[in-house]
Amino acid sequence: MEKINAVVTGVGGYVPKYILDNDEMSRIVDTTDEWIMERIGVKSRHILRDDERQGAGTSYLFTKAVQELMQKTQADPDTIEAVICATTTPDYHFPSTASLVIGNLGFKNAFGFDMEAACAGFLYAMEVGASMIQSGRHKRIIVCGGDMVSSMTNYMDRTTCPIFGDGAGCVMMEATTEDYGLIDSYLRTDSHYEPLHMAAGGSAQMPSHESVDKRLHFIYQEGRTVFKYAVTNMSDAVEIIAKRNNLTKENIAWIVPHQANVRIETAVARRIGVPEDKVMINIEHMANTSGGTLPLCLWEYESKLKRGDNLIFTAFGAGFTWGASYMKWAYDGSKFSK
Ligand code: UT7
Repeated sequence: MEKINAVVTGVGGYVPKYILDNDEMSRIVDTTDEWIMERIGVKSRHILRDDERQGAGTSYLFTKAVQELMQKTQADPDTIEAVICATTTPDYHFPSTASLVIGNLGFKNAFGFDMEAACAGFLYAMEVGASMIQSGRHKRIIVCGGDMVSSMTNYMDRTTCPIFGDGAGCVMMEATTEDYGLIDSYLRTDSHYEPLHMAAGGSAQMPSHESVDKRLHFIYQEGRTVFKYAVTNMSDAVEIIAKRNNLTKENIAWIVPHQANVRIETAVARRIGVPEDKVMINIEHMANTSGGTLPLCLWEYESKLKRGDNLIFTAFGAGFTWGASYMKWAYDGSKFSK
């Protein structure tokens, strides 16, 4: 039987209208544009405010991104078989965000579910989506990654709030017998609760007056510890996936890294010897959108991509969760140029 591969056939994305720049950030907490640019590489971030979202949460971002994807690809909504949403900020514990998105888009023949793997969520979701297609059971699915990180950001904590922004992206994945698409992944998870977590709101610490008073419903991060693990684990994963697939600095077209800190992104690229102009970077105006960073990179760089380009995705997040994937890009960016 011919081998089935899972190929990306389109990209959608959405970032909210409101832009919170470093000048405004420096009026919220004790920080400066210089510090944020030098230590993180962020100039501004998009924030989903109440007046735009009108009661919805991350599903609003996914819905906009998927609407764009459908418009660009002109896919028949009845042919969408599944929607996977990688997010740490679902609208509700239940129903799933995917369920809301499927309703908003009117996908009559789809099932959907959410996946939570923090900032590595989209990387994991692509692997799950590709496996569903490679199994032969599904032909066309949508994989989304995104977060309304502002909903869990403590705007009284200067060590975390400048890092994050809101946004979401998505890809259409389809079956092909060509040698293109998601070829290989190296994914890992370990157990490091302390350096990066949100303490309350789950079943371990249910919401209470005390948990709200102690501000336990926000991101807690020990930045330096997370930084070191992120650089080491992402670099190791990229090296492993490159070696396994005979990818070198000469034949890698793009590294697509999680946008956590520009210093992490360049350190990972340096380790494998790939020049910075082959690294997708949009952290300066997007910040860290958690599950949204990888698809939003694709969204912004899509017009530069060419059929046959070798892409290595890599991400790192709470858990810890991390890994790298190798994708052979299937179409010239001009296919969807506006
Ligand atoms: O996406 C999930 C994975 N997350 C990551 O990968 C994030 C990894 N970590 C990082 O990106 C960095 O560690 C941070 C951006 C979080 C922090 O940068 P850093 O260079 O590691 O700074 P630091 O925490 O070591 O702090 C250095 C100094 C401290 O002052 P002292 O103690 O040296 O006097 C902080 O108090 O900078 C101070 N500082 C700030 N100053 C101005 C911390 N935050 C700020 C701020 N503005 N916003």
